[in-house]
Amino acid sequence: MLYDNLGINDQGHLTVGGLDTVRLAEKFGAPLYVLDEDRVRENCRTYVQAMAQYLPEHSMPLFAGKALCFKGLYPVLEEEGMGADVVSPGEIYTALAGGFPADKLYFHGNNKTDEDIAYALDNGVGCFIVDNHQELEALDRAAAQRGKRQRVLLRVTPGIDPHTLQAINTGRIDCQFGVPIETGQAARFVAAALTMEHLEVEGFHSHIGSQIFEAEPFCDAVDILLDFAQGLRQDLGFVARTFNLGGGFGVRYRDSDPVVDIPANIQALADHLTQGCLAKGYPLPRILLEPGRSIVADAGLTLYRVGGEKTIEGYRSYLTVNGGMTDNPRYALYQSPYTVLPANRMQEPRDFVCTIAGRCCESGDLIQENISLPHLGRDDLIAVLTTGAYNFTMASNYNRLCRPALVMVRQGKARLAVRRQTFADLVACDL
Ligand code: LLP
Repeated sequence: MLYDNLGINDQGHLTVGGLDTVRLAEKFGAPLYVLDEDRVRENCRTYVQAMAQYLPEHSMPLFAGKALCFKGLYPVLEEEGMGADVVSPGEIYTALAGGFPADKLYFHGNNKTDEDIAYALDNGVGCFIVDNHQELEALDRAAAQRGKRQRVLLRVTPGIDPHTLQAINTGRIDCQFGVPIETGQAARFVAAALTMEHLEVEGFHSHIGSQIFEAEPFCDAVDILLDFAQGLRQDLGFVARTFNLGGGFGVRYRDSDPVVDIPANIQALADHLTQGCLAKGYPLPRILLEPGRSIVADAGLTLYRVGGEKTIEGYRSYLTVNGGMTDNPRYALYQSPYTVLPANRMQEPRDFVCTIAGRCCESGDLIQENISLPHLGRDDLIAVLTTGAYNFTMASNYNRLCRPALVMVRQGKARLAVRRQTFADLVACDL
């Protein structure tokens, strides 16, 4: 099994957090997102504890809501001592609706509108991660109107390629996020920010990419940020107190993916930071990290009912399921690998090679190609693992399919956290 929270019961059914997935699908319907809350909590604790143990005081993880965002998640994050990265007023609204404290929100986005800025300021968002000059000016103006001084981090691009997919790689220079260090623009960005009366510049943010399996690219980012910070200290007398290194630690979609030892990587990062600061005589900044995927991906799985098998003779066999790119667009977008299990027939030989197709009117609507399953028929149940991140949040209503429900599993009990959409929901905004 890919993870230790999965099992097989004596009926040959897949279990998650000790619960029978076949029963879950019967009770809550399919497709169904299942999220193992115990696992989410464990993943949070791994970060919280390792960061407290190894990194400078006040370092902390901020959960990246782009990976998963619904009301019921935020109390869990708060209880586990996480902050949160939010990228839109909608994410802010969701976090606040979940009772999350506004001062632990870090507001991202490369194009925050004046309305977004006003919304975040009026709701007391703790820190803005400012992406560009225009935002700097707009935020300073809006903070002035409210008689506020707003904490900010400035987003810079260190120009690192951590060898991940182009589409999810944001640390390189040529991208729409942040201001590049190498061209000299970032130094001017900081200088401008320091002249703004209503902004309190705490430090820098950089995000280098996703699915990163070792500490090295983060250490490279620290080196670049430290050089940059040291230069600014000399030129402007400004000392950055916070480095936010973004998200990106990888997860296992398949058995062949490496296991990331998060505490060991955080320790390596901490050692690297300490040495770098010592060498430069730079005061240790606190470190923020923004894990999304590595908090929720492996806690989630999706259950689908099989519609049937279709073999194109001389080509391949398709297995159709009652969801697809609408609840998980990641194979269509990135050819992302997944592990697929026959949830109600776990003990049968997997000798049928097939491609899992969704139900959308689009030939790219595939969940996975060339995987091995038993021969399955109508109403069998399959489980796609590691769907806790970037599935629910990237879902759509293409073909007017209703979004699935999301069930949270904790200590052997399941509770509905997001109900399934209804046809009435589909037309709720139609006038
Ligand atoms: N912080 C920032 C500024 C980010 O841009 C991201 C992800 C994260 C944190 C969280 O990174 P994580 O720990 O989850 O890797 N839709 C793509 C992923 C896009 C990630 C974009 N930024 C996918 O489904 O793989």
